[in-house]
Amino acid sequence: MDKPRVLIHREEIEKKVAELADELRRDYQDKHPLLIGALKGSFVFMSDLIRKLNIPVEIYFIMLSSYGAGRETSGKIKLLQRVKTPIRGRHVLVIEDIVDRGLTLSFLLDYLGRRKPSSLKLCTMFDKPSRRVVEIPIDYVGFTIPDAFVVGYGLDLDEKFRYLPDLCVLEEQE
Ligand code: IMP
Repeated sequence: MDKPRVLIHREEIEKKVAELADELRRDYQDKHPLLIGALKGSFVFMSDLIRKLNIPVEIYFIMLSSYGAGRETSGKIKLLQRVKTPIRGRHVLVIEDIVDRGLTLSFLLDYLGRRKPSSLKLCTMFDKPSRRVVEIPIDYVGFTIPDAFVVGYGLDLDEKFRYLPDLCVLEEQE
């Protein structure tokens, strides 16, 4: 049985969301951006961020499947639900929970980039750069974290722990 131990406390997360929102507000004030999140992990960060942003945005979610369960997915990614609005000529900001190996984001940025947005940027709450296998240009980062499997704040292990308000690491427990 795995037991969650707090790595980043909810108050630190809340402060960071406010800082990111300030930065994004300056950059996107008059741009009416499309915010695009990949389900399910990004839904908590997305909902916190948009309420701090305080500028007009449109919100979309896409569903990607990455086959496999547990801590390591296969890396084969498939789009299950696309964005149901034209992307061409729009300012697109991808909102992601975590960038790990970079495979999911590489797929998503390629998919969105081919639709010719005016700009395409990425904002991730957590980044695990030591695990990267594909280089990903990240424009806005909340926290850079060590190579550990984390849960909470929307992140899961086999659908468990998403509801935890803190970012936690899982520790083995008998
Ligand atoms: P990547 O394609 O390896 O960058 O993986 C990205 C996706 O894997 C994220 O959007 C998460 O859904 C999931 N993921 C990566 N690392 C973790 C973790 O530490 N905990 C929970 N999910 C993770």
